[in-house]
Amino acid sequence: MDLSTRYLGLELTHPIVASPSPLTRDIDGIRRLIDAGAAAIVMASVFEEQVAADRGLLEQRLETLHQASKQGGIPIIASLNGETPGGWVSFATQLEEAGASAIELDLYRVPSDPDETGQALEQSYVDILRAVKAKVQVPVAVKLSPYFSSPANMAKQLVEAGAGGLVLFNRFYEGDIDLDSLLVKPDFRLSTTYDIRLPLMWISLLSGRLDASLAATSGVWTYEEVVKYLLVGADVVMTTSSLLKDGPQHLATLVSGLREWMESRGLSSIGEFKGRLAAAHLFDPSAFMRVHYSDILTSGHKDH
Ligand SMILES: Cc1cc2nc3c(=O)[nH]c(=O)nc-3n(C[C@H](O)[C@H](O)[C@H](O)COP(=O)(O)O)c2cc1C
Repeated sequence: MDLSTRYLGLELTHPIVASPSPLTRDIDGIRRLIDAGAAAIVMASVFEEQVAADRGLLEQRLETLHQASKQGGIPIIASLNGETPGGWVSFATQLEEAGASAIELDLYRVPSDPDETGQALEQSYVDILRAVKAKVQVPVAVKLSPYFSSPANMAKQLVEAGAGGLVLFNRFYEGDIDLDSLLVKPDFRLSTTYDIRLPLMWISLLSGRLDASLAATSGVWTYEEVVKYLLVGADVVMTTSSLLKDGPQHLATLVSGLREWMESRGLSSIGEFKGRLAAAHLFDPSAFMRVHYSDILTSGHKDH
């Protein structure tokens, strides 16, 4: 059985990748994920404001990346969340030098200035990507937010500016309010399988329409979410919450679940089913977008 896939021009033995989290921050977690059979690992992001507060942190991350890239023969992708144009470029260059197989730009900030237009915000993302691309040789992916007026157009602009892959979507920290203390309090929750819906729709809509790899991130807990994402056209499927809750070994369970599902369907390679439910192949391409509740049971797709 051939589970191999290509992501950002990298050959992966299967499509399941560990996405950034505390587990991918240090060498111990990374080793455990390599032992569990991760096809690739995206390291926890280097955040420019953290590095500004503690210079040693960057050195530590670069050292971890260096060790990890020598470890297990799998691609180690570095992730970066900058604040200043110079910060994005300088960190990206250092991450490449430390051995990153690719760089993921965690392009997200809350655009809270009422005078900043959507167009200006989008342009700033494109400019960051172009500046990084001008300085590094390794492939660059962009982890995106779903919050654009036209996510498909944003995706196209990023691909035209050199993104080799798009990671859909980032999940954001949003605070809550403690009604006893009347303070804003952190309220962090792991994802649920329901969180696949938005990326599932967008990957389906974008699959085959952009010259870039597509990575799915959000809501992957079992092989079923892995299969669904592959069916709509994801090249790789990432998971964080499931590994934080069930441990790195859960990654092996996802791979064996995928293999067993393929066996049960008589499929011998990922290519035989990847993208089968991309919007371009659906009998009703609006199936992911405009299905009325009453129509849900009657929507269909073309047989191949
Ligand atoms: C505790 C925690 C830390 C995370 N740190 C990062 C990070 O440093 N950079 C990043 O791009 N995403 C980060 N993420 C987001 C995950 O990589 C992932 O995209 C998101 O959790 C959705 O996937 P999931 O449903 O599998 O958890 C973090 C998520 C969690 C839960």
